[in-house]
Amino acid sequence: MNDTFDLLHSHRSIRKFTEQAIPQETIEALVKAGQSAATSSFIQTTTVIQVNSEENRETLATFAGGQKYVQSASHFLVFYADMNRHKIACDMNEQEMQSGFTEQFLTASLDTALFAQNLVVAAESLGLGCVYIGGLRNNISGVSELLELPELVYPVFGVCLGYPDQDPEVKPRLPVKAVLKQDKYDASDEQDIISEYDVLLRHYYATRGANVKQQGWSEQISNMLNKEARPHMLDFLKSKGYLLK
Ligand SMILES: Cc1cc2nc3c(=O)[nH]c(=O)nc-3n(C[C@H](O)[C@H](O)[C@H](O)COP(=O)(O)O)c2cc1C
Repeated sequence: MNDTFDLLHSHRSIRKFTEQAIPQETIEALVKAGQSAATSSFIQTTTVIQVNSEENRETLATFAGGQKYVQSASHFLVFYADMNRHKIACDMNEQEMQSGFTEQFLTASLDTALFAQNLVVAAESLGLGCVYIGGLRNNISGVSELLELPELVYPVFGVCLGYPDQDPEVKPRLPVKAVLKQDKYDASDEQDIISEYDVLLRHYYATRGANVKQQGWSEQISNMLNKEARPHMLDFLKSKGYLLK
């Protein structure tokens, strides 16, 4: 359709990077692209920390479940939902900030995701590669302590960034007919669509260049969703002043 569509459709996560460093001006331009994303009520809740310390990178890789690329990528950014700045702004105006609302958690998390995705797309437009690292939430308290996060600040995910040293295939998504509904929610043909998609994904996994496996999408998802999902998150978020009401 045009270059933007081509770029978006060619996205694939990159997990192997060359040692070539990205100029700091480029990192700053990417952060600025992130900041240009829409932001709920202009609240601007995202802060990014560029982790340069090799020791901290190694610890974060361990916290993320031993994901080596957290350490080996030329750059690693941690994205925070940050309402500490808003507390300061309220204090400056002698207003008591009412925090802890679920709505604020949603807003801060959504803003952070939009910011990050803008940054990732901008990076990919420059030929850089990225992978999100939600694995940081495996030990979110450890991340929070290591990076000295105050109340009202929590790490949503990290992003590894660098020049790609691999060229993986694009992973096929669910068909548009599954994710675009007309007028009302209708799941009557969902099973057929999932079965069709299972065939496509099984073929993708069986024929891709690396990490070949015999699995469809529904199997993969079932194997993931039959387990608890980071049950420590609720207590952690409450300890940071989120999800209290
Ligand atoms: C919020 C988020 C967290 C993710 N966390 C990880 C992660 O910890 N490790 C990893 O290797 N990939 C991670 N990914 C990448 C996904 O596995 C990947 O986007 C998905 O499998 C689709 O593949 P693709 O990006 O190559 O199209 C994450 C993606 C998102 C959006």
